[in-house]
Amino acid sequence: MRRHANANDPLWYKDAVIYELPVKSFCDGNGDGIGDFRGLIEKLDYLENLGVTCLWLLPFFPSPLKDDGYDIADYTNVHPSYGTLEDFTKFLHAAHERGLRVAVELVLNHTSDQHPWFQRARSAAPGSPERDYYVWSDTDQKYKDARVIFPDGEESNWTWDPVAGAHYWHRFFHHQPDLNYDNPAVVREMLRVLDFWLDLGVDGFRLDAVPYLVEREGTSCENLSETHAVIGTIRAHVDAAGPGRMLLADANQLPADVRAYFGEGDECHMAYHFPVMPRMFMALHLEDRDPVVEVMERTPSIPETCQWALFLRNHDELTLETVTADERDYMYLAYSADQQGRLNAGIRRRLAPLVRNNRRRIELLNAILFSLPGTPVIYYGDEIGMGDNVYLGDRNGVRTPMHWNGDRNGGFSRADPPRLYSPVIMDAVYGYQAVNVEAQESDGASLLHWMRNMIRLRGLFRVFGRGSVEFLRPANRKVLAYVRSLEDDVVLCVANLSRTAQPAELDLTSFAGATPVEMLGYTEFPPITAAPYFLTLGPYGFYWFELQR
Ligand code: NOJ
Ligand code: CA
Repeated sequence: MRRHANANDPLWYKDAVIYELPVKSFCDGNGDGIGDFRGLIEKLDYLENLGVTCLWLLPFFPSPLKDDGYDIADYTNVHPSYGTLEDFTKFLHAAHERGLRVAVELVLNHTSDQHPWFQRARSAAPGSPERDYYVWSDTDQKYKDARVIFPDGEESNWTWDPVAGAHYWHRFFHHQPDLNYDNPAVVREMLRVLDFWLDLGVDGFRLDAVPYLVEREGTSCENLSETHAVIGTIRAHVDAAGPGRMLLADANQLPADVRAYFGEGDECHMAYHFPVMPRMFMALHLEDRDPVVEVMERTPSIPETCQWALFLRNHDELTLETVTADERDYMYLAYSADQQGRLNAGIRRRLAPLVRNNRRRIELLNAILFSLPGTPVIYYGDEIGMGDNVYLGDRNGVRTPMHWNGDRNGGFSRADPPRLYSPVIMDAVYGYQAVNVEAQESDGASLLHWMRNMIRLRGLFRVFGRGSVEFLRPANRKVLAYVRSLEDDVVLCVANLSRTAQPAELDLTSFAGATPVEMLGYTEFPPITAAPYFLTLGPYGFYWFELQR
C-alpha cells in the first residue's frame, strides 16, 4: 500500500511538498546582512532533511525592491545582493543533486517602472511599438469597474506620467506599470524569459497575479478570455520544452473562477486554493467544520493532470478577499484584535502568532493542510513556529531573517546587527533565542521534529496527493472527517476543531470489515462493522487511519 513517488514522473507536483522561501531571508553567505544563494546552498541539507521536495523561490531578480522584488527591472538576471547567475546555477544543480525541484517566479502582469521597457515606453511616441509595451490613457476614467487591489497603498489603478504625458495602468503599486498583453511583442518577450529559465533547468514557475493580464472596458478586468489565451500560449511553449515542467497560478479568487486557470489541462498545472485557506482558520475559530466542508464541496473537479496548491500562510497578508464582510469582521476580531496586524483585506501575521502559539492548533492546521486534496506549501520559518513583527510596515513583518540558532542575528548572518536587511525577531516568546532550528533539532518533542515526521509520513502515501475525497457528516460538527481514496488505498482523516475533548460517531458502513490502523503509531483500532464507529478525540486532536482490508 505504501507507494513512493517516482522521481521522473512528469506529474511530480502531485506528490510534492513545496517550501516557499525568500533568498534574502534564509541565510547570508557573505556576511553583508542580506541572504544570498551562497547561504541558501549551505542550507540545502536542512531542507532535504525536512523532507520537502520542491523549493519555490520568491523573486530574486534585479529590482528596486519596492514590492520586495515583484517589481522586476531585469527578468533574466540575479539581484546583486543575492549573488550572480552563476551562483543561481550552482544552487540549482546542488538542489537537483538532492532531488529537490526548484520553482521560480514569472511576474507576467507588471514590471518595475525602472525596467528599461518602461523607461523606453514613456519617452517613445504615442502609438509606437515601444510605447505599446504598457497600457496608456489620456484619462484616468477608463476601466472603472476594476477594483483597487492594495487599497491601503493606492487610490487608483491609473497614475499620471509627466514624461509620457499620459496615465499608465497598474493593478498593484503605482511603481509597477502593467504590461500590455494586447501587444504580441510583450507575449514574445515573456516567452523569451521563460526560455531563459527553462534552459537553465528550473522545474516550475509561479505565475504571479495571473488574472489581470488583459483589460477590457465594462468588465472587472479579471479572468478575461483574452487573459486565458495568453496563459494557453505560455503553456504550449512550456510543453514544447519537454515534460516535467510545472506552472502554478496565483489567482486569489473563488474556486469556480480559479478552475478556469487549469483550462482543459492546457493552462496551469497547479493553482492555489485561496478560498480554503481562510476557511481552515474560520473552522478553527468557530469550532465548526462547515466552512471547510462547504468550500471543498463547492470546489469543481479539475483535469487529471492538475492539482491544487494548499497553504496556511505565505509572504503576503492572510487574505480575506474570498470571504463575506461579516466573516471578515469576526476573523479580524478572532485573529487580529490589534489593528496593527491588519493590512488591505487581510492579516499580516505568521502562523504561530495567529493561533496564539498554541502547539496543538499549529499541529491540527498542518494535519489538515497535509491531508486535504492537493499539494501543501509550507512558508519558511513556520516549521519552527517563528513569530512576526507587525511594526515593520507593509508585509515585512512576516519576511524577517530565518532563525538558525541562538547566536548573533539568529545565526542568519555574521554582519553587525544594524546592517541586516531587517531586524530579527527578538521578543521573549518568539525571539531567535527561544525559537530556532538548532534548539529544535536537539529537542525530540519540537515542532520541527513533528513537521519532519508528518512530511515523511505523507510522502509514503500517494493517496494524499492523488486520491479523491469524501466528507463524512458526524452529528458533532466540531469534528471534521473525510476519507481519501486512491484505488485500493483508503485513508480516514478525523480532526477535532474544538479546544475540548469531543466524541464522534462515524458512518463507515461502506468500509465494514476493514481495520483502521492509526498511521503515526501504526496502532490497530477495533475493526469497522455495520454499526456507527465511535472515536474520542482530545482537544485539537486528529487521527489519520489507514483502512486495511
Ligand atoms: C502577488 C504577490 O504575492 C505579492 O507579494 C505582490 O505584492 C503582488 N503579486 C504584486 O506583484
Ligand atoms: Ca549576503
